[in-house]
Amino acid sequence: MSQQLVEPLKQSLQGTIEIPGDKSISHRAVLFASLAEGKTTIYGFLRGDDCLSTIACMKSLGIKIEENEDYIVVHGKGLQGFQEPQSILDVGNSGTTIRLLSGVLAGQEFSSVLIGDDSIAKRPMARVTGPLKMMNATIDGRSLASYTPLHIRGGSLKGIDYHSPVASAQVKSAILLAGLYASGTTKVTEPSKSRDHSERMLESFGVHLEVTEKSVSLVGGQKLQGTTVQVPGDISSAAFMLVAGAVVPGSDITLKNVGINPTRSGMIDVLLEMGANLEILNKRRFGSEPVADLRIQYSALKGTTISGDLIPRLIDEIPAIAVLASQAAGKTVIKDAEELKVKETNRIDTVVNQLKILGVGIEATDDGMIIHGNSVISGGTVESFHDHRIGMAMALCGLISKGNVTVKDTDAIAVSYPTFFEDLRGLMKEVN
Ligand code: S3P
Repeated sequence: MSQQLVEPLKQSLQGTIEIPGDKSISHRAVLFASLAEGKTTIYGFLRGDDCLSTIACMKSLGIKIEENEDYIVVHGKGLQGFQEPQSILDVGNSGTTIRLLSGVLAGQEFSSVLIGDDSIAKRPMARVTGPLKMMNATIDGRSLASYTPLHIRGGSLKGIDYHSPVASAQVKSAILLAGLYASGTTKVTEPSKSRDHSERMLESFGVHLEVTEKSVSLVGGQKLQGTTVQVPGDISSAAFMLVAGAVVPGSDITLKNVGINPTRSGMIDVLLEMGANLEILNKRRFGSEPVADLRIQYSALKGTTISGDLIPRLIDEIPAIAVLASQAAGKTVIKDAEELKVKETNRIDTVVNQLKILGVGIEATDDGMIIHGNSVISGGTVESFHDHRIGMAMALCGLISKGNVTVKDTDAIAVSYPTFFEDLRGLMKEVN
């Protein structure tokens, strides 16, 4: 099993780095390009394990994808261009791949089987298979298609007006993708707005959508046209570096080309609320997505409460935020975050249990956690449980702990941020 030893830093973090491509946007770029007619060139694609699973699945469905160092080219064949896969489609650790792909496969008349790793086997699929069945897809799987393996035979779909019980971009996107194959209009309404990368990117492929505050609809049968996509840096990866800059004394770091889509930027709001010295510089756009350079300098922080509509805007950043909060004055309360229980691990349990081992004052609640600030991190040995974001959060603790921190199972970090340790080392400069 892979592991990393992180020693307490004797210096600050300084310098500028470019954050790797956004995971959510990279998945969508490959998937939508495969549905499109003609060629799509994708710059800044995240070569993380999850997005490579999406590429492998699309290749198994007969799509030609050229992978170059700086860009990839997808030769889309249109909505009806897929071929029945000869073997099982393996999504690895990627929830986004299995859920979005289920939406596409619901539109295909052929048969396909989807599996993933041990984590995927525990993640709820009924939230996607339920509405896809309502649209007329035939889907089977463990516990009435609630868990993998999933078997999908689609075709002849009808549009639905679906009110999702959860704010989930994966659910919303799966239904909209199936909606492209359905008769009539498909509409999804959510309790709070989830990330809107699908809506933005479908529009840039030429699809017309109606978007209101909490709902999105589209008319089936619309064609996608190949285009060029520039993927911004992933704010969810940037989050770990932002926390490092905010908590390591004397630090001053700049992260270039970070996506600041308002449905993803809750982390920025929280940092500012907690008193971080954060500047948002050089705001611009990569296609339909807003980006900026983020400069963070070490400063005193105070605890806060994070709840409600803010949660979907920072759900993936909560492991990093827990580390940030451990160094703030006063307590931080995170609530309304039950969704953490169904991520790559149960992140209420894994964050709380692993941070406790390192000496952080933290308690689990039914829908989140309470983190006690000014915690002294003593050091020790912790595990990622093959959850990339848990691995990175624990590594951050090593930078500011009294003793060494050993993080086990760090290979998982390659799911979203393959160059995490390299980038961190690049920011470690000796101070005279
Ligand atoms: C994602 C949506 C979120 C997020 C996940 C990526 C996406 O999940 O946690 O990391 O790319 O659509 P949910 O849709 O389950 O909220």
